[in-house]
Order: sequence, then structure tokens, then C-alpha cells
Amino acid sequence: MTTPGQPLDSVAAAASRGQGGSSTEGERTSNVREPRSADPTPASADPGATYRLVVVPGDGIGPEVIAGGRRVLEAAGRLFGFGFEWQKVLIGGVAIDAYGMPLRDEDMAACAAADAVYFGAIGDPRYDDPKAKVRPEQALLALRKGLGLYANLRPVTVQPVLRGSSPVRESLLEGVDMLIVRELTGGLYFGKPSGQSDGPNGREVVDTLFYTEGEIRRVVKLAFELARGRRKKLTSVDKANVLSSSRLWRTIVEEVKPEYPDITVEHRLVDACAMTLIQRPAVFDVIVTENLFGDILSDEASVLAGSLGMLPSASICERRTAYGLHGLYEPIHGSAPDIAGKDVANPLATILSGAMMLRWSLGQPAAAEAIEKAVADALAGGYRTPDLVAATGEQPGDKKVGTQAMADAVVAALEAGAVSAAGAGTKGAAQ
Ligand SMILES: NC(=O)c1ccc[n+]([C@@H]2O[C@H](COP(=O)([O-])OP(=O)(O)OC[C@H]3O[C@@H](n4cnc5c(N)ncnc54)[C@H](O)[C@@H]3O)[C@@H](O)[C@H]2O)c1
Repeated sequence: MTTPGQPLDSVAAAASRGQGGSSTEGERTSNVREPRSADPTPASADPGATYRLVVVPGDGIGPEVIAGGRRVLEAAGRLFGFGFEWQKVLIGGVAIDAYGMPLRDEDMAACAAADAVYFGAIGDPRYDDPKAKVRPEQALLALRKGLGLYANLRPVTVQPVLRGSSPVRESLLEGVDMLIVRELTGGLYFGKPSGQSDGPNGREVVDTLFYTEGEIRRVVKLAFELARGRRKKLTSVDKANVLSSSRLWRTIVEEVKPEYPDITVEHRLVDACAMTLIQRPAVFDVIVTENLFGDILSDEASVLAGSLGMLPSASICERRTAYGLHGLYEPIHGSAPDIAGKDVANPLATILSGAMMLRWSLGQPAAAEAIEKAVADALAGGYRTPDLVAATGEQPGDKKVGTQAMADAVVAALEAGAVSAAGAGTKGAAQ
């Protein structure tokens, strides 16, 4: 069971195995057992638990994709014997409309007190003016800092049936299975001073890239642990030929390396890494990098998967709840105002973020695995939201569906998987 006292390294190693899916049993070194798919009984499940979740639908397509994600989580709870208490909180543009600010203190407190936060997306073109005093995105930065969400984990895999949806040549996508670990509470997004002023030669502006040694070491160690549960390769990305902050980053990676003799480490400059991500994406296993580089590289990597609507993320902190690490789970995409309210957004990234929440924060790895399999099954069954159809052109067998119908297809696949597991005599699902 994932307990509050369990060391971070074993939690991380166990959780990371569920994301990569490519390491074999023999390669695994952690003593925390992750259930094999043939045995869906959750090793670390708390039978009958009711998890207290804050849900943040947010702006644009956020409420639509979250509605689909919640239905899938509820279905997983019914099948695996746990439940949820949901507390809906307004954050982002909707909170500016309701309260005049993007994030209230009491809502931050509710997020901190919950077992985890399930987040849609925020952002509203009405507040896009860079001179605006209050903007929805301020809430995200405040949440990250306030909750101590120091690491953002973005697994990037390409569903075999969607290879044709990627603009990248199919042959290059074979074997793509990476985990990008982005530092989330330091660097340029938080450094002070930051801002514009008037100087003797006109307007001046400054942003500060600041890191403490401890902030770098913490996320680097997490990345090593995650690599240990996967293919044991770590790529550290920096700009050490130019930036002092990158030189300290690289030094610390070298200092931590001897603690992990089983991990192969390489350093790449961020500009070269950006090219390799498209030219040879399958060479990467775990990538660790600072906040800004991680923001850009992980969006670039999402192109491999064919649609922004496919990629989930977890932002985790060091604090533990009764069930695992406290964290916030959200799709990597934004509020997509261009398609909001039309029931066309792809909910799979949000659904897969729910699976990450079950694995990392709620101690339900088997339910997480079942959801990931249900997503693959729904796609294999031909279900396609418009973003997945468009790139390849409609194929024979495609079933063009909207947001809610796609979520329903995942629920149906989840239930069908549970029935077949029960029929095969395995325990856990459908009990
Ligand atoms: N974490 C967050 O909440 C977050 C992240 C990024 C951007 N934003 C905000 O979102 C707003 C819109 O930003 P943007 O347009 O640059 O990025 P976006 O991710 O919202 O959209 C980019 C493109 O991808 C499409 N898209 C995104 N998600 C999709 C999905 N699930 N299914 C199908 N298509 C999808 C959109 O229609 C759009 O064409 C801005 O206000 C931005 O600040 C928020």
C-alpha cells in the first residue's frame, strides 16, 4: 500500500512503471509491487475508500472534458470498489467573473485539503490583454507555488492506431515512449525581479531565472527514480554553453549520478534536443529539465501523439496524503476557446490524467491501468473525435464521435474489460 510514510523513491518508481509500460518485470528494482495486468487486484488499493477530490472544470472546453473524465473515474470506482466525494471549485476566468479574482484563498485551501485536484483547463480570450491586472493563468502559477507542485510529469506515447494522425513520419514513431519531467515551481516563471519599467533609453524589461541547489536536486532525484522504474536512461536538458543556471543544473545531475549507477545519463542542449525530439523521438526515455525548457519541449513532444487532446499530465508535490502523493492532474492542452461548447473536444487527455491521479495520488494502480487499456480499446474500436480524424482523413471503420460519446466509449470499454477479466477468473475488477 502506498502510505504516508513510504519513501518518495519507491512511490515514484512504482508509479512510473505504470506510465511507461515498456520495462519488464526483471528490470524492475523497486521493492514496491505493481500489479501485473493479468491480476487486476490493486496491490495498494484501500478497499471501499472514498476519495475527496477537488474538481476544477475551469474555462472553455474544461467543463466538457472534465464531465467525461468524471464519468470514467466513477465507472472505475464502481468496478474496483471505491468512490469519490467531489467538491467543485471555480478557478480561472470563471472565478474572475464570479469573484473578481482567478483564485480565492479558500479555494486554494480546498485544493490543499483534498486528496487530489482534478483540473480541466483555464484561459479566456476576454482576459487575454497582457496589460490586464487579473488574468486566469495567474491562478495556475499561484496553485503550483501554493501547493508546492514542483514536478510536472508528462508521459508521451503514441497509440499505434493513431500513428497516422501525427505529422511526423510513422516509421519514426515506432517505440516512442518517453516521460518528460519538468521542474514547475522555479526558473523564469517565478524569479524576481520580473517586470517592465521605463529607463533612460525607453522601456526596459527583466525576467529572472533563479534556482536554488535544493530545487534542482529534488526534481533531478525524482527523475532518476522514475528512470529506474523504466528503461533506465535519463536525458538532462539544459543550455550549459550559455546560462549559469544550466551549468549548476548540469553539475548537480553529475553529483547525483553516482547514487544511480544503473542509470545511463546524457546531457543535451535544449536546442539540439528540440531537433532530436522530431528526428529520432524513440531515443528518449526520461527527460528532466527546468521550467521554461520543459514547457516548450513537452508541447513539442505532444505533436508526436497526433493531438494535444491525447496527452495527460500530473503535477506532484512532496507532501503525502493518506493514499499517495498530493497532486494536480490535468490535460496538457488549454481551454481551446475556438471549439468550446460544441461537444467536439477530445476528452482522452483528461481521462488519462484521471488514470495518473489514481496511480500517483490515490493508490489505485490497477484501476489506472484498466482506464489506460480502455482508452486504447476505444481507439482500436474506431472511436475518433474530430481532432483525431482530421489528420488522417476518415478511415473505414472510424466512428466519428463528440466529447461525451468518446467518454461513453471509454466507460463501455472499461466495463467490457472488467467483464472479460472476471470471465478469465482474475480477481478485482467487476467484483
Ligand atoms: N493548463 C492550462 O489550463 C492551460 C494550458 C495551455 C493554455 N492555456 C490557456 O488556454 C487558452 C487557449 O490557448 P491555446 O489556444 O494556445 O492552446 P489550446 O491548447 O487551448 O489550443 C490549441 C489548439 O489545440 C486544439 N485543442 C486543444 N485541446 C483540444 C482537445 N482536447 N481536443 C481537440 N482539440 C484541442 C484547440 O482547438 C486549438 O486549435 C489560453 O487562454 C491559454 O492561456 C491554459
